[in-house]
Amino acid sequence: MCGIVGYIGNKKASPILINGLLKLEYRGYDSAGISTIEKTGLSTMKDKGRVKNLYNLPEIDNLEGTIGIAHTRWATHGKPSKENAHPHMDNTKTFSVVHNGIVENFNELKKLLCDNGYTFYSQTDTEIIPNLIDYYYKKETDNDDLKFLRAVKNACNSLKGSFALEIICKDYPDNMIVVRKDSPLVIGKGNGENYISSDIPAMLSYTKEFYLLNDLEYVVLSKDDAKFYNNNLEPINKEIKLIDWNASSAEKGEFEDYMLKEIYEQPKAIRETIGSRINKNSKCEFEELNFTKDYLQGLNKIYFVACGTAMHVGLAGKDMIEKLCKIPTEVDIASEFRYRDPLIDEKTLCIFISQSGETADTLAALKLSKECGAKTLAITNVIGSSITREADYSIYTHAGPEIAVASTKAYTSQVVLVAMLAIYFAETLELSAEKTTLLNSLKEELLVLPKKVQKTLETSTEIKNFAKRIYKEKDIFFLGRGIDETVAKEASLKLKEISYIHSDSYPAGELKHGPIALIENDVTVISIMTDHKLVKKTVSNIQEVISRGAKTLIVTNQQIDTDMFDMVIRIPETSTFISPILSIIPLQLLAYFTSKEKGLDVDKPRNLAKSVTVE
Ligand code: F6R
Repeated sequence: MCGIVGYIGNKKASPILINGLLKLEYRGYDSAGISTIEKTGLSTMKDKGRVKNLYNLPEIDNLEGTIGIAHTRWATHGKPSKENAHPHMDNTKTFSVVHNGIVENFNELKKLLCDNGYTFYSQTDTEIIPNLIDYYYKKETDNDDLKFLRAVKNACNSLKGSFALEIICKDYPDNMIVVRKDSPLVIGKGNGENYISSDIPAMLSYTKEFYLLNDLEYVVLSKDDAKFYNNNLEPINKEIKLIDWNASSAEKGEFEDYMLKEIYEQPKAIRETIGSRINKNSKCEFEELNFTKDYLQGLNKIYFVACGTAMHVGLAGKDMIEKLCKIPTEVDIASEFRYRDPLIDEKTLCIFISQSGETADTLAALKLSKECGAKTLAITNVIGSSITREADYSIYTHAGPEIAVASTKAYTSQVVLVAMLAIYFAETLELSAEKTTLLNSLKEELLVLPKKVQKTLETSTEIKNFAKRIYKEKDIFFLGRGIDETVAKEASLKLKEISYIHSDSYPAGELKHGPIALIENDVTVISIMTDHKLVKKTVSNIQEVISRGAKTLIVTNQQIDTDMFDMVIRIPETSTFISPILSIIPLQLLAYFTSKEKGLDVDKPRNLAKSVTVE
């Protein structure tokens, strides 16, 4: 949540900062601001609303400084307003700070500062930080080069919660200090310049060389240097990481929206995620993993822990691991898992799925699992993200940057990766010959999947027509059984988050136990049917809603009598294990076209932000 950008170099900072903010708007978009160091001291400009309000401010062109920090906000403390927008300055206007995260002890710190004569002008927790730095700065007796750094460190040591901070100081016009704890921040190395950002994609057009920070590592930046310190302020070395995403992968190109582009990128994302991990005649390979047959046989349980769409991937993973490996598998929402004393120990493998690798609850659940002795495995899309740095093992999807708030290509790539993981576990366990045949056919299915995804995208015109019929509705229901029910959940989430239509998903067989009371004339019911063992049962459930006046859309690869339904979308056949990868595609498109019909901002739905880095 919240996007952070910074620049220090020879160029005018403000256009680079604004450009970075525009690329990061998916992280939060209720207010934005910028601070630069000018010849006259610190200059700060901010406004409520989108970044365009900031760059439309006439004074912004007057900023000449070559050092600056900037922020696009997703409000936590205090409503979206100019006063609450970042950057925040201290009372003496010596420091300017942007902050991503939450200061949990801000009431105590505010009292300390108020008792010491400080005044506050916003409702934010962040305004504490520049004043706290000033408080410690004034206590410094040595006027040496590290005075600024020591004040920042003392302030950070008093903060509870999470933070990624950029700080500039009018007394140090050639420096910027950055630090993070449980909130993302990277430094991009340029030629005689440094870029700072909460997300790599915002800086890809400037550099591919990044320094990745660990918690409580401090960086003192100048235009041609980056000095790293640990929490004792001892100098440390940092290696540069080369990020091989290209800049155009973070641009919209010819597409109207990022979401549509990302939906259409799915064949490529899946192909690249499969990479060379699967071959027809050899075992599935994960060079990052070294699980043995003994270890897997000794497991009491596997846990998938994640949030939102990523959690829906876990549901597909449970089906695969239980059926292919016979290991009991549970799926939990990270924000619930961490507070319910989960039954885990050293015989449990906890798998954390997260596109961003930064989701606060998922990260906290991972730390908890480690404390309980479990082994931890991260599945993410972002190299070097916080979750990968905490986990015992990390494996990556290669979906490229996902910018639209609603996740699409990350979901399908994650299901592919989890399928390969299940195959890898099953092959390591050396189960029966019958299982080997099943695994081989599943590998063949995965290899042809990108083509089938391409074919499925051809349903777009029919889906667009259906969206025209439903976009004014208030409630929509999604039904499925078995693996199709997990897709119903994901489809329902996608629709509600970008079209603002209330939708719910149910296991089709559960309908008669309550939800059927909501079915009335002309209500829309959407059902997914890809499991030949369950299709007849689901058709019966849909007949029950049709008799109560529902209009129906069916997504299927099964032979069914199509006459009774309003629309049937045919998708290619594939193994039930991996059918969510195909069956979700028409429903991603349905969410997209419904949102477009309503004239909404598909990529930046209200109240949401990509990468939820606060609890
Ligand atoms: C929905 C969506 C969210 C994310 C969730 C977890 O379209 O994108 O539900 O899946 O916030 O995010 P990550 O995967 O980054 O941990």
